[in-house]
This record gives sequence, C-alpha cells and structure tokens, in this order.
Amino acid sequence: MSENLHIIEHPLLKAKLTVLRDKNTNRQTFRRTLSEVAMLMTYDLTRNIPVKSIEVETPLEKTRGVELHKDVTLVPILRAGLGMIDGILELLPNARVGHIGVYRDKTTLLPVEYYLKLPDNVNETFVILVDPMLATGGSALAAIEILKKQGIKDLNFLCLVAAPEGVKAVHDRFPDVRIFAAALDRQLNDHGYILPGLGDAGDRLYGTE
Ligand code: PRP
Ligand code: URA
Repeated sequence: MSENLHIIEHPLLKAKLTVLRDKNTNRQTFRRTLSEVAMLMTYDLTRNIPVKSIEVETPLEKTRGVELHKDVTLVPILRAGLGMIDGILELLPNARVGHIGVYRDKTTLLPVEYYLKLPDNVNETFVILVDPMLATGGSALAAIEILKKQGIKDLNFLCLVAAPEGVKAVHDRFPDVRIFAAALDRQLNDHGYILPGLGDAGDRLYGTE
C-alpha cells in the first residue's frame, strides 16, 4: 500500500496473532500473548535504530561495540496500547514512557482526547507510538498530531492489526510516519471494527466487554 507500511513477517508472530484473534482465548493468555507479540515486533522495528560506536573491554582486549544513539520514548495510546508496553520494555528497558489518552466515541467513531503526559525533550528521542488497533485511524491521527506538535520528525507507529482505511488515513496526512503491523486486515465493518480483526482490544485486555 505504501512504502512506510511494514508488515512484519515471522511464523512465531503469525501463530501468536492467531491466538489473539481467537475469541476463546482467555484474558490471561490474551495479555501475555499481546506482550510477547509486542516484544517480537520491537525486535524488527528497531532493526535500523541509530547506534553509535563505543569502545568495550572484554576480559582479553579492547574492541569496538555499539550503544543506542538516542534515548527511546514509548507512547502508548490508552488504554489498549498499555498492553504492549511491558513486552517492548523487555527489549528497551531504559525507555521512557509518555501517555496519550484517546478513546473512540462509540457512535461517531471520532477520537476523544482525555489525557496527555509526555517526557521532556521527547523530540530528541527515538519515539514509538503504540496501539494494537489501527481502524479508522482517528485515534492514531489525534496522537500523531500531538506528537508532531512536539517537534518529533521521525515517528514510528507500532500496531498489531491495521485496516486499509486506517493506514490510508494516517498516510494521507502524515506519509512519513512508519507504520509497523503484524497484519493488514481486510476492511472495517459498519461499526468501525476491523475484519477479521480480534475484537475490541481494550475490552479483551481489561475485561470491560
Ligand atoms: C481502540 C484501539 C485504538 C482505537 C482504534 O481504542 O485501541 O485506540 O480503538 O480505532 P480508530 O482507528 O477507529 O480510532 P478504544 O477507543 O476502544 O479505547 P480503549 O483502548 O480505551 O478501549
Ligand atoms: N478498536 C478495537 O479495539 N478493535 C477494532 O476492531 C477497532 C477499533
């Protein structure tokens, strides 16, 4: 669809996504699996993360190694994005975490913003916006607007399942945002749910269905 849409292909990821799609998966397994998926996807998303060369001394001699060039900031969109944070922190344990509260009005499907707390100088860090579901794109666009106003140029968006409608909405407005997903699903239904999707991610995580 677009050069900035990356569908991460891996058999383990596909198998875990299948568990998440299954309506019979219980809450405990859903939570654990979402976290595992987030970790696997982070490994791929950070393939080109900037690093700097440093010297390291092994027990035998000095050699060259690398460390991350910038701090990393994770920005989950509340609530469902929180379900991916622990998995990402397994690989990026020093990352800072900002929070953006946005929910989708059930009738209008329009995003409603209700919380914002970002670390200082977030624009100087490697930023990953996190939300498992990209449906109409309304929530992601609201969050991206906020982050762009902070002066963030390179923005990565980690989602799990994307709908073509959501990808188009984001890239029509912000073609430079790199979207990483485990699957590009078929379409939205009349209520804005992704088909085949996995249902309401926040409700499945927190038992509010
Ligand atoms: C879900 C999901 C996204 C949004 C996607 O959140 O986690 O944030 O819907 O839909 P969109 O692309 O059409 O905006 P929801 O609004 O259900 O809030 P929640 O995470 O608090 O359950
Ligand atoms: N939000 C979800 O959690 N699931 C969808 O399918 C669409 C929006």
